[in-house]
Amino acid sequence: MNVITTVAEMIAQREHLPRPLGLVPTMGYLHEGHMTLARWARRDNRSVVASIFVNPTQFGPSEDFASYPRDMERDLQVLQAEGVDVVFAPTVEEMYPQGFSTYVNVERVTEVLEGARRPGHFRGVATVVAKLFTIVRPDRSYFGQKDGQQVAVVKRLVQDLNLGTEVVVVPTVREPDGLALSSRNVYLTPQERRAAPVLYRALSRVRDLYLAGERSAERLRQEAAGMINAEPLAKLDYISIADAATLEELAVVDRPTMVSLAARFGRARLIDNVVIGQG
Ligand code: PAF
Repeated sequence: MNVITTVAEMIAQREHLPRPLGLVPTMGYLHEGHMTLARWARRDNRSVVASIFVNPTQFGPSEDFASYPRDMERDLQVLQAEGVDVVFAPTVEEMYPQGFSTYVNVERVTEVLEGARRPGHFRGVATVVAKLFTIVRPDRSYFGQKDGQQVAVVKRLVQDLNLGTEVVVVPTVREPDGLALSSRNVYLTPQERRAAPVLYRALSRVRDLYLAGERSAERLRQEAAGMINAEPLAKLDYISIADAATLEELAVVDRPTMVSLAARFGRARLIDNVVIGQG
């Protein structure tokens, strides 16, 4: 496995990598969710590039950029074991050299949910993802459904700027009790960790009610909110029932729909989602 830290080397390497080429963009501190992305990429492509870059532009000033968990040595072992060919792990200065002043702003789909609560977050995500696509030129790129709004933003970005990569969405990997894997789960105390699966229980309840015929978004939202508000350690931020592509809130569930939520458990802010109404 080749570890590359400069943009120039990555551009030179990509010309020699057999096609199709799959890209797995990550911020490191890899868990089973990332490993699943790498496995899917390995299965579908002749070459696999994984990037490890904790992207400062997608963190707000009061967010956890400095303390975001990092473990490069272990990450490289994990990626090697998954058969990744090249790891692109640039420094912040390499990605954002002095004078950097171009940012990508995806409108509308970034203005709700996480985007409304984390100003600038998706501007940072869209900018770094556009840079990674330009540097690596992947035929396919792999993103987890866990970050459901990010998926909608990246799909819009690729379509609008004709970036020519197929966005492959990989299902969320969960602990046996339903908690979605996330690098930020390390912030949970043991008590909060025991309480956190209430999020997936609430999402599963919404899906069951939908499958039983409920189509009122308001009734589905209320059901999920009731379950989460009954958990003393959870502080619910939002529950959204929205068009899966545009993220516009729905009154009636009559199309592919993302049911998403965010809640705080002490220091950890967790997000999760399920997609319903896919036909
Ligand atoms: O999902 C992530 O880990 C990040 O948002 C991404 C896509 C690697 C961009 O920094």
